Amino acid sequence: MKQVKSRIRVSEFGEVNTSKTEINAMVNLVEHEASRLDSRFLEPACGDGNFLMEVLNRKLTTLVKKFRCNKYEFEKNSIIVIGSIYGIEILKDNVQSARNKLYRRFCMVYQRYFREDINKELIQSVEFIIKKNIILGDFVTFKQKNSNNPITFCEWTLIEQKLKRRDFTLMDLLACTTFEGGPPISDNGEPIIVPQPIKEYSLVKFDEAYKAC
Ligand SMILES: C[S@@+](CC[C@H](N)C(=O)[O-])C[C@H]1O[C@@H](n2cnc3c(N)ncnc32)[C@H](O)[C@@H]1O
Repeated sequence: MKQVKSRIRVSEFGEVNTSKTEINAMVNLVEHEASRLDSRFLEPACGDGNFLMEVLNRKLTTLVKKFRCNKYEFEKNSIIVIGSIYGIEILKDNVQSARNKLYRRFCMVYQRYFREDINKELIQSVEFIIKKNIILGDFVTFKQKNSNNPITFCEWTLIEQKLKRRDFTLMDLLACTTFEGGPPISDNGEPIIVPQPIKEYSLVKFDEAYKAC
């Protein structure tokens, strides 16, 4: 893996990718979370997705261990795995490459175990979710690149066998987070501020995520 692509990209965008060894060591620090299917990860300057790939690999290892013999559960939980990985990056080629890498890795693992019976809707949903979750944007202004629109994230949750999509602005999500010790909690254990979605979508079948738009 090349850590530097060009001098100009280093000077204009600070683009120096982290080495594989360092990525492994850093993800090891949160191994329990990285292996959990539904723990959400956001990398705010994700480059071409090397950290996100490591997180995906660990989640896929868990997915395969738990559900390789149960295609239905494998597919349902695939949506949760893919839907839990988010990135923002300012360079278009990096965004494309991060999306492609995540998509190809998922397909490779899925095909390895279920070659005979690929669910095309699932693959289409995975592609759709990755496109939504890896965003071409500026983490300093919280805006999408080349537009005045705010960066928004989709929350993907399973309700029984159905998938719910809700959209939130990055600004609202960050306003509800404290970095010292997790979210603010009241005396009775309830979170004090809960971000409000800017849009909610009707429930869809979990392998029809692409219809939630
Ligand atoms: C030091 S590199 C790290 C890349 C990757 N996270 C890694 O560790 O391998 C920083 C990345 O941030 C991107 N970047 C620079 N300014 C940004 C901004 N305002 N918003 C989002 N991404 C930005 C660069 O294009 C570059 O890919």
